Amino acid sequence: MTPRIPLVIDTDTAADDCFALMIGLTDPRADLRAITMVAGNVGFEQQVENAFLTLEVVGRRADVAVHLGARQPLEREWASATDVHGDGVGGQRREGTETSSSEPAEEALVRLAKEHAGELKIVAIGPLTNIALAVKRDPEFAANIAELVIMGGSINARGNITAAAEYNIYVDPEAAQIVLDAGFRSVRFVTWDPLSLRDAVFDAAMIDRIRALGTRRSAFFVTANQKTFDFDVAVGVGGSIHCDSLSVLVALEPSLVLEENGYFVAVELQGELTRGATVFDWRAVAPPANATAIESIDRERFVDAMLGMLAAD
Ligand code: BDR
Ligand code: CA
Repeated sequence: MTPRIPLVIDTDTAADDCFALMIGLTDPRADLRAITMVAGNVGFEQQVENAFLTLEVVGRRADVAVHLGARQPLEREWASATDVHGDGVGGQRREGTETSSSEPAEEALVRLAKEHAGELKIVAIGPLTNIALAVKRDPEFAANIAELVIMGGSINARGNITAAAEYNIYVDPEAAQIVLDAGFRSVRFVTWDPLSLRDAVFDAAMIDRIRALGTRRSAFFVTANQKTFDFDVAVGVGGSIHCDSLSVLVALEPSLVLEENGYFVAVELQGELTRGATVFDWRAVAPPANATAIESIDRERFVDAMLGMLAAD
Protein backbone atom coordinates (compact mmCIF):
# COMPACT_ATOMS: atom_id res chain seq x y z
CA MET A 1 0.00 0.00 0.00
CA THR A 2 1.27 3.49 -0.86
CA PRO A 3 2.03 5.41 2.34
CA ARG A 4 -0.39 8.20 3.12
CA ILE A 5 0.76 11.78 2.65
CA PRO A 6 1.29 13.74 5.88
CA LEU A 7 -0.68 16.92 5.37
CA VAL A 8 -1.57 20.18 7.08
CA ILE A 9 -4.35 22.41 5.82
CA ASP A 10 -3.96 26.06 6.74
CA THR A 11 -7.39 27.62 6.37
CA ASP A 12 -9.77 30.54 6.85
CA THR A 13 -12.65 28.13 7.09
CA ALA A 14 -15.77 29.21 5.24
CA ALA A 15 -17.64 27.57 2.36
CA ASP A 16 -15.05 26.12 -0.03
CA ASP A 17 -12.51 25.85 2.79
CA CYS A 18 -14.97 23.48 4.53
CA PHE A 19 -15.15 21.27 1.45
CA ALA A 20 -11.36 21.33 1.10
CA LEU A 21 -11.12 20.15 4.72
CA MET A 22 -13.64 17.38 3.97
CA ILE A 23 -11.30 16.09 1.25
CA GLY A 24 -8.28 16.22 3.56
CA LEU A 25 -10.25 14.42 6.27
CA THR A 26 -11.69 11.66 4.11
CA ASP A 27 -9.35 10.97 1.20
CA PRO A 28 -7.55 7.66 1.81
CA ARG A 29 -4.30 9.14 0.46
CA ALA A 30 -4.24 11.88 3.09
CA ASP A 31 -2.93 11.71 6.62
CA LEU A 32 -4.23 15.04 7.88
CA ARG A 33 -1.99 15.85 10.83
CA ALA A 34 -3.49 19.24 11.72
CA ILE A 35 -5.82 22.03 10.75
CA THR A 36 -4.30 25.47 11.31
CA MET A 37 -6.51 28.54 11.40
CA VAL A 38 -5.65 31.93 9.96
CA ALA A 39 -7.46 35.28 9.80
CA GLY A 40 -9.30 35.53 6.51
CA ASN A 41 -12.75 35.06 5.10
CA VAL A 42 -15.03 35.60 8.12
CA GLY A 43 -14.64 36.34 11.84
CA PHE A 44 -11.91 34.22 13.42
CA GLU A 45 -14.15 32.51 16.01
CA GLN A 46 -16.73 31.73 13.34
CA GLN A 47 -14.03 30.14 11.18
CA VAL A 48 -13.00 27.93 14.10
CA GLU A 49 -16.64 26.90 14.61
CA ASN A 50 -16.87 26.12 10.89
CA ALA A 51 -13.79 23.90 11.07
CA PHE A 52 -15.22 21.95 14.02
CA LEU A 53 -18.57 21.63 12.26
CA THR A 54 -16.81 20.23 9.20
CA LEU A 55 -15.02 17.65 11.35
CA GLU A 56 -18.40 16.65 12.72
CA VAL A 57 -20.03 16.34 9.30
CA VAL A 58 -17.44 13.76 8.21
CA GLY A 59 -17.50 11.90 11.54
CA ARG A 60 -13.97 12.93 12.58
CA ARG A 61 -15.16 15.10 15.45
CA ALA A 62 -12.30 14.73 17.89
CA ASP A 63 -9.41 13.18 16.08
CA VAL A 64 -7.70 15.98 14.16
CA ALA A 65 -6.28 18.91 16.13
CA VAL A 66 -7.39 22.44 15.29
CA HIS A 67 -4.63 24.96 16.03
CA LEU A 68 -5.34 28.66 16.31
CA GLY A 69 -3.04 30.97 14.40
CA ALA A 70 -2.81 34.61 13.41
CA ARG A 71 -5.89 36.73 14.04
CA GLN A 72 -4.43 39.60 12.04
CA PRO A 73 -2.21 39.91 8.96
CA LEU A 74 1.45 40.77 9.64
CA GLU A 75 1.17 44.48 8.86
CA ARG A 76 -2.20 45.29 7.35
CA GLU A 77 -5.70 45.64 8.68
CA TRP A 78 -7.71 42.44 8.26
CA ALA A 79 -10.17 42.58 5.35
CA SER A 80 -13.14 40.26 5.61
CA ALA A 81 -15.04 38.43 2.87
CA THR A 82 -18.33 38.07 4.74
CA ASP A 83 -20.06 39.75 1.80
CA VAL A 84 -19.03 36.68 -0.23
CA HIS A 85 -19.47 33.93 2.35
CA GLY A 86 -21.91 35.11 5.08
CA ASP A 87 -20.92 33.01 8.11
CA GLY A 88 -19.43 30.44 5.73
CA VAL A 89 -21.79 27.59 6.58
CA GLY A 90 -25.27 29.00 5.90
CA GLY A 91 -26.25 29.13 9.57
CA GLN A 92 -25.47 25.46 10.33
CA ARG A 93 -24.15 24.79 13.82
CA ARG A 94 -22.29 21.90 15.41
CA GLU A 95 -23.46 19.69 18.25
CA GLY A 96 -20.07 18.96 19.81
CA THR A 97 -18.08 21.03 22.25
CA GLU A 98 -14.53 20.10 21.25
CA THR A 99 -11.99 22.84 21.78
CA SER A 100 -8.90 23.89 19.89
CA SER A 101 -5.39 22.73 20.71
CA SER A 102 -3.37 24.76 23.20
CA GLU A 103 -0.46 24.65 20.74
CA PRO A 104 -0.52 27.73 18.48
CA ALA A 105 -0.65 27.15 14.71
CA GLU A 106 2.82 28.49 14.05
CA GLU A 107 4.37 26.12 16.60
CA ALA A 108 2.38 23.16 15.30
CA LEU A 109 3.55 23.90 11.76
CA VAL A 110 7.20 24.02 12.82
CA ARG A 111 6.87 20.85 14.92
CA LEU A 112 5.10 18.84 12.24
CA ALA A 113 7.58 20.00 9.61
CA LYS A 114 10.39 18.60 11.80
CA GLU A 115 8.54 15.37 12.60
CA HIS A 116 7.84 14.72 8.91
CA ALA A 117 10.91 16.40 7.45
CA GLY A 118 10.98 16.09 3.66
CA GLU A 119 7.49 14.54 3.58
CA LEU A 120 4.99 17.03 4.95
CA LYS A 121 2.78 18.82 2.47
CA ILE A 122 1.00 22.03 3.41
CA VAL A 123 -2.04 23.26 1.55
CA ALA A 124 -2.55 26.95 2.33
CA ILE A 125 -6.04 28.07 1.39
CA GLY A 126 -6.18 31.34 3.28
CA PRO A 127 -3.87 34.34 3.68
CA LEU A 128 -0.26 33.22 4.23
CA THR A 129 0.25 34.76 7.69
CA ASN A 130 0.72 31.50 9.61
CA ILE A 131 3.12 30.11 7.02
CA ALA A 132 5.20 33.31 7.11
CA LEU A 133 5.30 33.18 10.93
CA ALA A 134 6.54 29.59 10.79
CA VAL A 135 9.22 30.64 8.28
CA LYS A 136 10.35 33.40 10.63
CA ARG A 137 10.27 31.11 13.67
CA ASP A 138 12.42 28.31 12.26
CA PRO A 139 15.10 28.78 9.59
CA GLU A 140 14.77 25.07 8.74
CA PHE A 141 11.01 25.18 8.30
CA ALA A 142 10.87 25.80 4.54
CA ALA A 143 13.49 23.14 3.81
CA ASN A 144 11.54 20.58 5.83
CA ILE A 145 8.40 20.95 3.73
CA ALA A 146 8.04 18.64 0.74
CA GLU A 147 5.51 20.83 -1.00
CA LEU A 148 3.50 23.96 -0.34
CA VAL A 149 0.35 24.36 -2.39
CA ILE A 150 -0.96 27.92 -2.28
CA MET A 151 -4.45 28.86 -3.31
CA GLY A 152 -3.92 32.45 -4.28
CA GLY A 153 -2.94 35.02 -6.80
CA SER A 154 -3.67 35.44 -10.46
CA ILE A 155 -1.29 35.26 -13.38
CA ASN A 156 -0.92 38.94 -14.26
CA ALA A 157 -4.63 39.30 -14.60
CA ARG A 158 -7.96 39.46 -12.84
CA GLY A 159 -8.25 39.70 -9.08
CA ASN A 160 -11.42 39.34 -7.03
CA ILE A 161 -11.16 41.62 -4.00
CA THR A 162 -9.65 44.30 -6.23
CA ALA A 163 -9.22 44.45 -9.97
CA ALA A 164 -5.60 43.38 -9.57
CA ALA A 165 -5.44 41.17 -6.48
CA GLU A 166 -6.84 37.86 -5.35
CA TYR A 167 -8.17 37.85 -1.76
CA ASN A 168 -5.72 35.51 0.01
CA ILE A 169 -2.67 37.39 -1.22
CA TYR A 170 -4.29 40.83 -0.87
CA VAL A 171 -5.07 40.31 2.81
CA ASP A 172 -1.45 39.65 3.77
CA PRO A 173 0.87 40.53 0.88
CA GLU A 174 3.95 40.83 3.13
CA ALA A 175 3.39 37.27 4.35
CA ALA A 176 3.09 36.05 0.78
CA GLN A 177 6.39 37.69 -0.16
CA ILE A 178 8.13 36.17 2.89
CA VAL A 179 6.87 32.75 1.80
CA LEU A 180 8.07 33.25 -1.77
CA ASP A 181 11.51 34.29 -0.50
CA ALA A 182 11.80 31.41 1.97
CA GLY A 183 13.32 28.78 -0.30
CA PHE A 184 10.64 26.09 -0.17
CA ARG A 185 11.60 23.18 -2.42
CA SER A 186 8.21 23.27 -4.13
CA VAL A 187 5.65 26.06 -4.14
CA ARG A 188 2.68 25.40 -6.40
CA PHE A 189 0.01 28.01 -7.12
CA VAL A 190 -3.60 27.21 -7.71
CA THR A 191 -4.44 30.63 -9.08
CA TRP A 192 -7.76 32.44 -9.12
CA ASP A 193 -7.26 33.47 -12.73
CA PRO A 194 -7.06 31.76 -15.09
CA LEU A 195 -7.14 28.30 -13.45
CA SER A 196 -9.96 28.51 -10.89
CA LEU A 197 -12.20 30.78 -12.93
CA ARG A 198 -12.00 28.31 -15.80
CA ASP A 199 -11.69 24.84 -14.23
CA ALA A 200 -13.14 25.06 -10.70
CA VAL A 201 -16.58 26.63 -11.25
CA PHE A 202 -19.63 24.61 -10.17
CA ASP A 203 -22.71 25.85 -12.01
CA ALA A 204 -26.35 25.33 -11.03
CA ALA A 205 -26.51 21.94 -12.77
CA MET A 206 -23.51 20.73 -10.78
CA ILE A 207 -25.05 21.96 -7.53
CA ASP A 208 -28.23 20.04 -8.46
CA ARG A 209 -26.14 16.89 -8.93
CA ILE A 210 -24.61 17.43 -5.50
CA ARG A 211 -28.02 18.02 -3.89
CA ALA A 212 -29.35 14.85 -5.52
CA LEU A 213 -26.69 12.76 -3.77
CA GLY A 214 -28.89 13.05 -0.68
CA THR A 215 -26.13 12.51 1.87
CA ARG A 216 -25.33 14.47 5.01
CA ARG A 217 -22.18 15.72 3.30
CA SER A 218 -24.07 16.89 0.21
CA ALA A 219 -26.74 18.64 2.28
CA PHE A 220 -24.00 20.37 4.28
CA PHE A 221 -22.28 21.40 1.05
CA VAL A 222 -25.37 22.86 -0.58
CA THR A 223 -26.33 24.91 2.49
CA ALA A 224 -22.79 26.09 3.24
CA ASN A 225 -22.21 26.99 -0.40
CA GLN A 226 -25.43 28.87 -1.14
CA LYS A 227 -24.32 32.37 -0.17
CA THR A 228 -21.08 32.14 -2.13
CA PHE A 229 -22.90 30.65 -5.10
CA ASP A 230 -25.36 33.55 -5.12
CA PHE A 231 -22.56 36.09 -4.78
CA ASP A 232 -20.48 34.58 -7.56
CA VAL A 233 -23.43 34.34 -9.93
CA ALA A 234 -24.33 37.97 -9.15
CA VAL A 235 -20.83 39.07 -10.14
CA GLY A 236 -21.03 37.15 -13.39
CA VAL A 237 -18.95 34.04 -12.73
CA GLY A 238 -21.63 31.45 -13.48
CA GLY A 239 -21.32 29.36 -10.32
CA SER A 240 -19.38 28.94 -7.10
CA ILE A 241 -15.63 28.50 -7.37
CA HIS A 242 -13.96 25.53 -5.68
CA CYS A 243 -10.34 26.57 -5.74
CA ASP A 244 -9.63 25.49 -2.14
CA SER A 245 -10.93 21.98 -2.76
CA LEU A 246 -8.91 21.79 -5.95
CA SER A 247 -5.78 22.80 -4.01
CA VAL A 248 -6.09 19.87 -1.62
CA LEU A 249 -6.70 17.44 -4.46
CA VAL A 250 -3.68 18.75 -6.35
CA ALA A 251 -1.52 17.85 -3.35
CA LEU A 252 -2.95 14.34 -3.22
CA GLU A 253 -3.32 13.42 -6.87
CA PRO A 254 -0.44 14.56 -9.10
CA SER A 255 -2.06 13.25 -12.27
CA LEU A 256 -4.94 15.71 -11.87
CA VAL A 257 -2.57 18.37 -13.18
CA LEU A 258 -2.32 18.55 -16.97
CA GLU A 259 0.06 21.49 -17.28
CA GLU A 260 2.28 23.32 -14.81
CA ASN A 261 5.05 25.85 -15.44
CA GLY A 262 7.77 27.47 -13.36
CA TYR A 263 7.77 31.24 -12.79
CA PHE A 264 9.57 33.84 -10.77
CA VAL A 265 6.71 35.29 -8.74
CA ALA A 266 6.70 38.48 -6.67
CA VAL A 267 3.97 40.30 -4.77
CA GLU A 268 3.16 44.00 -5.18
CA LEU A 269 3.65 45.56 -1.74
CA GLN A 270 3.69 49.25 -2.63
CA GLY A 271 1.00 49.86 -5.21
CA GLU A 272 -2.21 51.62 -4.26
CA LEU A 273 -4.28 50.09 -7.03
CA THR A 274 -2.31 46.87 -7.19
CA ARG A 275 -1.61 45.94 -3.53
CA GLY A 276 -1.27 42.16 -3.33
CA ALA A 277 -1.13 41.59 -7.07
CA THR A 278 1.02 38.58 -7.97
CA VAL A 279 3.49 39.33 -10.73
CA PHE A 280 4.38 36.16 -12.61
CA ASP A 281 7.48 36.86 -14.70
CA TRP A 282 6.70 35.33 -18.07
CA ARG A 283 9.82 36.58 -19.86
CA ALA A 284 12.60 34.43 -21.26
CA VAL A 285 15.03 36.57 -19.22
CA ALA A 286 13.11 36.14 -15.96
CA PRO A 287 15.02 35.32 -12.75
CA PRO A 288 15.02 31.61 -11.80
CA ALA A 289 11.61 30.25 -10.89
CA ASN A 290 10.63 30.32 -7.21
CA ALA A 291 7.24 28.68 -7.79
CA THR A 292 5.13 26.89 -10.33
CA ALA A 293 1.64 27.73 -11.51
CA ILE A 294 -0.81 24.99 -12.32
CA GLU A 295 -2.08 26.02 -15.73
CA SER A 296 -4.71 23.36 -16.35
CA ILE A 297 -6.27 20.35 -14.66
CA ASP A 298 -8.42 17.39 -15.64
CA ARG A 299 -11.75 19.03 -14.84
CA GLU A 300 -13.72 15.80 -15.22
CA ARG A 301 -11.59 14.01 -12.63
CA PHE A 302 -11.86 16.97 -10.29
CA VAL A 303 -15.65 16.88 -10.53
CA ASP A 304 -15.68 13.10 -10.04
CA ALA A 305 -13.47 13.39 -6.95
CA MET A 306 -15.81 15.99 -5.42
CA LEU A 307 -18.94 13.99 -6.22
CA GLY A 308 -17.35 10.81 -4.87
CA MET A 309 -16.39 12.50 -1.60
CA LEU A 310 -19.85 14.05 -1.18
CA ALA A 311 -21.68 10.82 -2.07
CA ALA A 312 -20.25 9.01 0.96
CA ASP A 313 -21.93 9.27 4.33
C1 BDR B 1 -9.92 32.59 -1.84
O1 BDR B 1 -10.45 33.50 -0.90
C2 BDR B 1 -11.49 32.90 -0.18
O2 BDR B 1 -12.64 33.65 -0.29
C3 BDR B 1 -11.66 31.50 -0.70
O3 BDR B 1 -11.83 30.61 0.38
C4 BDR B 1 -10.38 31.22 -1.45
O4 BDR B 1 -9.40 30.66 -0.61
C5 BDR B 1 -10.32 33.01 -3.23
O5 BDR B 1 -9.88 34.30 -3.50
CA1 CA C 1 -9.96 30.03 1.72
